[in-house]
Amino acid sequence: MGEGGNRGGGAGLGMGAGARRVAVRLGRGASYRIDVGGGLLEALGRATRAAVGESARRAALVSNAKVFGLYGEKAARSLEAAGFAVSHWLMGDGERFKTLQTAERLLRSLASSGFERTDAVVALGGGVVGDLAGFVAATYLRGVAFVQAPTTLLAQIDSSVGGKTGVNLPEGKNLVGAFHQPRAVVADTSTLATLPPRELTAGWCEALKHGAVSDRRLFDRTCSFLRREREAESEGRSAPPPDGRPARGEGLARLVAAQCAFKARVVAGDEREEAGRSDNRSRKILNFGHTVGHALEAVTSFRRFRHGEAVGHGMVAAAVLSKNLGLLAADELEYLREGVRLAGRLPPASDLDPAEILRATRADKKVAGGRLRWVLLERVGSARITDESEVSARVVLASLRAALGAG
Ligand SMILES: NC(=O)c1ccc[n+]([C@@H]2O[C@H](COP(=O)([O-])OP(=O)(O)OC[C@H]3O[C@@H](n4cnc5c(N)ncnc54)[C@H](O)[C@@H]3O)[C@@H](O)[C@H]2O)c1
Repeated sequence: MGEGGNRGGGAGLGMGAGARRVAVRLGRGASYRIDVGGGLLEALGRATRAAVGESARRAALVSNAKVFGLYGEKAARSLEAAGFAVSHWLMGDGERFKTLQTAERLLRSLASSGFERTDAVVALGGGVVGDLAGFVAATYLRGVAFVQAPTTLLAQIDSSVGGKTGVNLPEGKNLVGAFHQPRAVVADTSTLATLPPRELTAGWCEALKHGAVSDRRLFDRTCSFLRREREAESEGRSAPPPDGRPARGEGLARLVAAQCAFKARVVAGDEREEAGRSDNRSRKILNFGHTVGHALEAVTSFRRFRHGEAVGHGMVAAAVLSKNLGLLAADELEYLREGVRLAGRLPPASDLDPAEILRATRADKKVAGGRLRWVLLERVGSARITDESEVSARVVLASLRAALGAG
């Protein structure tokens, strides 16, 4: 896989200036491409046609009312122009609608409309829409073509890449699912302009996580971009910077493409997240910040934090723990903290009881097959997976207190 510069090359596909293409290569010769750039929804139809072939007649555009209201018409028009008969299907907005019930409703709607094996499901929305539509595409007629048009930062840099699809059960998140790789991903970065600030912050935390665990340059790049964004905000500027640096939209598309290339690289190295692996190239390193992150979500009944915001706190907690265990230097911890600050303001966690957070990390362990593993940092750009037996509860509690200002 690689990040293909497409300054000129994408023009034929209707990719505008600054558009980028990332190729994802999977086992057995399979591959797909991710197009990233401002205004790319206009090219969704062409990209879908190129990916699914001429035999597809119909496209089922899956979205929710909010995203469809903003971008549905543009997406549908582009698909129609590429010769698809387009129907749209809207689900409720939010994690609580990512259920088997919603999936069943969509499956039945496809069945009753005679949707065929050669047709295509197209997801337009964030990770919730993408996961649910992908799961339906994986299971309807044992699998139909699937295309992602992600519209949140998290979906563009993370959930739309890698082929994980699924729904929640009352017993827990993402407990039912399938690996089903998309045929193409079309990430229109201009859709991020309407994203609520907290969703952006949550996405930036995940972006920083990518760099922190194994790509220092990507972390540096993400921080530099965010620093410039914060500068521009404080100057009230939205025009291109005067000094020849890329315009904000172009810089954003480049960074999102670099983030996708990173996720694609990790996925290519461990496509199905092998259970026995815990080396630092396994998909498990992407759980950095998640042990405490999940616990923070659980102790606040999933009401206070967006997932990425909880991961922001969780990364700082795991980094403080790494420093307290003598793995991470103080200035590296400070750099990680600076990155998280640049991502945006996180809801406070200082009122939460560290002992309760620790208990919640242990409850999470059941999901991980009885073993709790900490993803710790050796430096920004290099993570290591450590078994809980190497980490005492006393050090975890002290680290939580220091990281969250808690208790
Ligand atoms: N499959 C994977 O590999 C993977 C990886 C990470 C997360 N996920 C899943 O992703 C989900 C979270 O995704 P998310 O963070 O994108 O949340 P989301 O899909 O709930 O979207 C967040 C909110 O933003 C709105 N929205 C979407 N695009 C918008 C736009 N352009 N303008 C304005 N509003 C917009 C949505 O309607 C929603 O209210 C979770 O269910 C998580 O389990 C999956």
